[in-house]
Amino acid sequence: MTQPTAPDIFAADQRSRWLSDHPGIWSRQGADLDAIPTLSILTTLWDQPRWLEAYHLYDELGSELFEAICDLPEYYLTRTENSILEANAKNIIAAAPVECIVELGAGYSKKTVHLLSEQVRQRGLCIFAPIDVSVAGLLASKASVQKDFPQLEFHGIHARYEDGFSAIEKSLPTLFVFLGSTIGNFNQTEFPRFFRALSAAMGPNDYLLLGADRVKPVKLLEDAYNDSRGITAEFILNVFRNINRLLGGNFDLNQIGYHSWFNPHWQQIEMYAVASTAQEIYFRDANAGFQWRHDEKILVEISRKFEPNRLQEQLGFFGLTPVEHFTDPNEWFSVLLFRKQN
Ligand code: TRP
Repeated sequence: MTQPTAPDIFAADQRSRWLSDHPGIWSRQGADLDAIPTLSILTTLWDQPRWLEAYHLYDELGSELFEAICDLPEYYLTRTENSILEANAKNIIAAAPVECIVELGAGYSKKTVHLLSEQVRQRGLCIFAPIDVSVAGLLASKASVQKDFPQLEFHGIHARYEDGFSAIEKSLPTLFVFLGSTIGNFNQTEFPRFFRALSAAMGPNDYLLLGADRVKPVKLLEDAYNDSRGITAEFILNVFRNINRLLGGNFDLNQIGYHSWFNPHWQQIEMYAVASTAQEIYFRDANAGFQWRHDEKILVEISRKFEPNRLQEQLGFFGLTPVEHFTDPNEWFSVLLFRKQN
């Protein structure tokens, strides 16, 4: 079978680089998504304090546990953001006259449905291109989107965010959608790097829709990341199961506790794994190891909380201009629309 040519949502100089392994899903030629995790783990676990990059959380079980988190009574984020999108999809789409919607880290694209249905209603044809590191997620999103919106042109982009959005044709008016307060999971280095790259990849007729969780009373925040059923703890500790598999490691999940708190100085929830006994950690496949001391913490994930006005100011430094701000009646969550400054 001859390879289909990459569609023209990709910039002309990018088209020959993207190949299709599954119909409608594009992967960049030569990009080895599997080689990167090992290097990342072997770097950050030797930092002091030790920490891990967030994307290691999302193996198959991790993705399922995360879906379960979204349905927890304590976890207000997904519900609240969904209600904002449902109530305002019409205004959002009217304010962003685009032909293409690119979603970063789409998962199963459940919340995006509100935007897609408005786009189809207001403009008829539309391209939907989710970017995700999980092929399974892209295939699931493709199946549900094609069933509900046969008019949509679907192109799944199997890549990390930056490789994906940098490949999009700049002259195609595009709405980039980044939901779930995933920007809150970026640290002080990742945050500016991400927005510099995204802004550089945006063309003059492009928009960004950003979901951001807000600062609120500490009890509400802390409960959302430490639910009574222990699903969040399971999700966070599952990262060690994944690392054991990736590197032939010997983390013992029965000897690891979960601790999370809201750090008021950094305005972020910090999620830690704590060694309940001293452990000699060894990675067979990398011939490397370290002493994990009793009570020593590994920072597995952060979730920053935002003040929408400050966030708008900050993104101004990256050439993004605020267009509109949508929120819920409690003002717990914000959905912010920006456009590229010309
Ligand atoms: N971005 C969301 C948040 O910060 C979802 C999320 C990412 C999450 N990592 C998490 C939720 C870890 C709970 C635990 O809330």
